[in-house]
Amino acid sequence: MKILVTGGAGFIGGNFVKYMVNKYSDYDIYNLDLLTYAGDLTKHQDISTKKNYHFVKADIADHEAITTLFDKEKFDFVVHFAAESHVDRSIADPGVFIRTNVLGTQILLDAAKKIGVTKFVHVSTDEVYGELDFDTTSFFTEGTPLQPNSPYSASKASSDLLVRSYHETYGLPVNITRCSNNYGPYHFPEKLIPLTISRVLSDQKIPVYGDGKNVRDWLHVFDHCTAIDLVMHKGVNGEVYNVGGHNERTNLEVVTTIIKALGKSENLIEFVEDRLGHDKRYAIDPTKIEKLGWKSTYTFETGIVQTIQWYLENKEWWQQIISGEYQKYFENQYSI
Ligand code: NAD
Ligand code: DAU
Repeated sequence: MKILVTGGAGFIGGNFVKYMVNKYSDYDIYNLDLLTYAGDLTKHQDISTKKNYHFVKADIADHEAITTLFDKEKFDFVVHFAAESHVDRSIADPGVFIRTNVLGTQILLDAAKKIGVTKFVHVSTDEVYGELDFDTTSFFTEGTPLQPNSPYSASKASSDLLVRSYHETYGLPVNITRCSNNYGPYHFPEKLIPLTISRVLSDQKIPVYGDGKNVRDWLHVFDHCTAIDLVMHKGVNGEVYNVGGHNERTNLEVVTTIIKALGKSENLIEFVEDRLGHDKRYAIDPTKIEKLGWKSTYTFETGIVQTIQWYLENKEWWQQIISGEYQKYFENQYSI
């Protein structure tokens, strides 16, 4: 069985590739990635010599490269993670989000249709649903209308609609997963949790947007990997599955939890200008995927302890990232 994982050098795709290579020695796992600023192969040093691991450097928006690869390898499954994924970057420069997330997805769908894959799993996000109010009783279900608010979420919603259309029009066997905020090992330090951990560890200020009361629903990346494994094998063709573990926290709660765990002072928090169009609250109703057989294993309390420990033990990985191009990004994005 040949499985193509796009974006397998990034955060979630990288964890998924490791999980699949170790779990299924009889599956050939192909990690296709362009190695943008967000992708790196050092995270796969432990699996790169395994017989069932393969790497292909390619751009999903390169029609010829993708079509040629699919014609040659005849993949059975495609699990599609590759994307531009950071909301702040989409606000600063939306164009590349449309090219990668929309055009790239359409090119993959065409190539998958041409060879007749067994399943195309499209990894999407709860952000396509827009935002919820600050109550504790409303949740995103698979029936919630799409109402994306940022250029990033609009590009993901567009790709979701394309995936749906290839199922409805051509009968391509697809699933769409819409997950809440992930965290865990190899999370790129531009996102809230790894940014906070890495800056607290060097006694630097933590930029919190607005009043810090926005709410996100945090899922450990391992639990996201098990969900995708399940959907890939058992998902009903054409269906959407929301993934989340009921771990809602305000941003301020997340940041103070990390500061406390590392024994530092809350004086490190600096409230900065709010993100444009900042979605108030995300929260997932995971009933449908739970009925399919999925259950999360981490709570936020257990997951954040594991994650902080990982960042303490793997300083060389994130220190090498924040010492490069990242510094320019940080200076442009923040004025602290
Ligand atoms: P990431 O930014 O860490 O990784 C993205 C990967 O895609 C990188 O390795 C990058 O090199 C690669 N890539 C980018 N453009 C490419 C191109 N044109 N061709 C080939 N490869 C390319 O992202 P992530 O956080 O791991 O997210 C993965 C997927 O999961 C995305 O589709 C995202 O929308 C979705 N998602 C993320 C979260 C989250 O909390 N991070 C939650 C729900 C859904
Ligand atoms: O919900 C799923 C989404 O989660 C994914 O689709 C995205 O790819 C992923 O990046 C993530 O989006 P968010 O915008 O929610 O994640 P981020 O870590 O950027 O921000 C989390 C919250 O923290 C958000 O309310 C904004 C806030 N924040 C973020 C940063 C980077 C701050 O207050 N300060 C910061 O410096």
